[in-house]
Amino acid sequence: MKNILITGGAGFIGSHLVRLLVRKYPDSLIVNLDKLTYAGNLLNLADIEKSPNYRFVKGDIVDEKLVFSLFKEYDIDTVVHLAAESHVDRSIANPMEFVHTNVTGTVNLLNAARHQWKNGSESNRFYHISTDEVYGSLGETGLFTEKTPYDPRSPYSASKASSDHFVRAYFHTYGMPVILSNCSNNYGPNQFPEKLIPLFINNIINKKPLPVYGKGENVRDWLYVIDHARAIDTILTKGRSGETYNIGGHNEWKNIDLIRLLCSIMDKKLGRPVGTSESLISFVKDRAGHDMRYAIDAGKVKMELGWEPSVSFEQGLEKTVDWYLSNEEWLRQVTSGNYLDYYREQYEER
Ligand code: NAD
Ligand code: TYD
Repeated sequence: MKNILITGGAGFIGSHLVRLLVRKYPDSLIVNLDKLTYAGNLLNLADIEKSPNYRFVKGDIVDEKLVFSLFKEYDIDTVVHLAAESHVDRSIANPMEFVHTNVTGTVNLLNAARHQWKNGSESNRFYHISTDEVYGSLGETGLFTEKTPYDPRSPYSASKASSDHFVRAYFHTYGMPVILSNCSNNYGPNQFPEKLIPLFINNIINKKPLPVYGKGENVRDWLYVIDHARAIDTILTKGRSGETYNIGGHNEWKNIDLIRLLCSIMDKKLGRPVGTSESLISFVKDRAGHDMRYAIDAGKVKMELGWEPSVSFEQGLEKTVDWYLSNEEWLRQVTSGNYLDYYREQYEER
């Protein structure tokens, strides 16, 4: 791991990972390639941007010339690929952008790695970051394991499933040293306020309605983002080539229960009377094709590599709320401009 290319390092999970790797591996160079879409933000990395072992490159993973030249210029030996269009609701509105970045972009990176590495050796690694959503939707019982057949049901999860298949195909066909992980829902500081938890925190601060899809009965398995970054570091350094690892929090919540907990924390932190935030809950039209339940069996990564979550949900949620309340300027910046158009289309016409 001399020269590590991280894609999507200015996004939510990517920025936490970049920070961890820059600090933990001072002798490695970390090159962050990010297009800075609406979801990417250099403010997320302000505290490490001057580190001598860090470089930022603004660019698109689909750009063949740029990606091939970056591999050569920095003699990249390791890739951690996070860049993606990541929001299900946006994928329903505009699937093509998801095919472009998530599928074509991934194959472009694989081609560049293959070219630079002559298919790859022990000292190379192409680590693809994926999601549990590729496995589809669970009923009331059961957990996703690494052997669960793929059954993606949204344009987002279909594009991630497709990219996962390409990554495995390069392992089988060309012997590329790949590794994959599929993680459950992340939450924590720096998450763009279109995903459930930061959207609702922002709306509570501004006393705006909390749009709960359907009856709020869908279940997600939540993991604190820094625990995900720790898991990625563990898998990157200790995982076996060609393998897939599921990552999750063993922390299932029905949306409406999570929202009520969040409301009570927010009332306390904002010094508002009990029940103020809950009164903002508004049940709205369900998401099309809304997956009912995700839950991960993270036994393999624990047994083989010794990783497990370190932050409880109650602690993590409180830390997250504290971060948003003390970073209102960050929130203001990311919720101006295009965000207002997105919000109008997504919620006010619902
Ligand atoms: P995010 O949307 O916050 O960040 C994505 C980053 O990728 C942004 O910085 C954006 O600018 C960049 N990007 C987008 N298109 C690009 C392109 N064409 N070229 C270069 N950069 C581009 O996403 P996130 O939540 O941090 O997710 C990161 C990865 O983890 C994704 O691959 C996602 O599928 C996966 N994942 C996310 C979660 C979750 O709960 N957020 C869970 C499991 C897996
Ligand atoms: P989200 O954060 O978009 O993650 P994902 O769909 O990838 O799991 O949504 C989490 C859950 O919250 C999901 O069941 C959809 C629901 N949800 C709402 O009820 N209202 C909202 O405004 C959003 C964004 C999500």
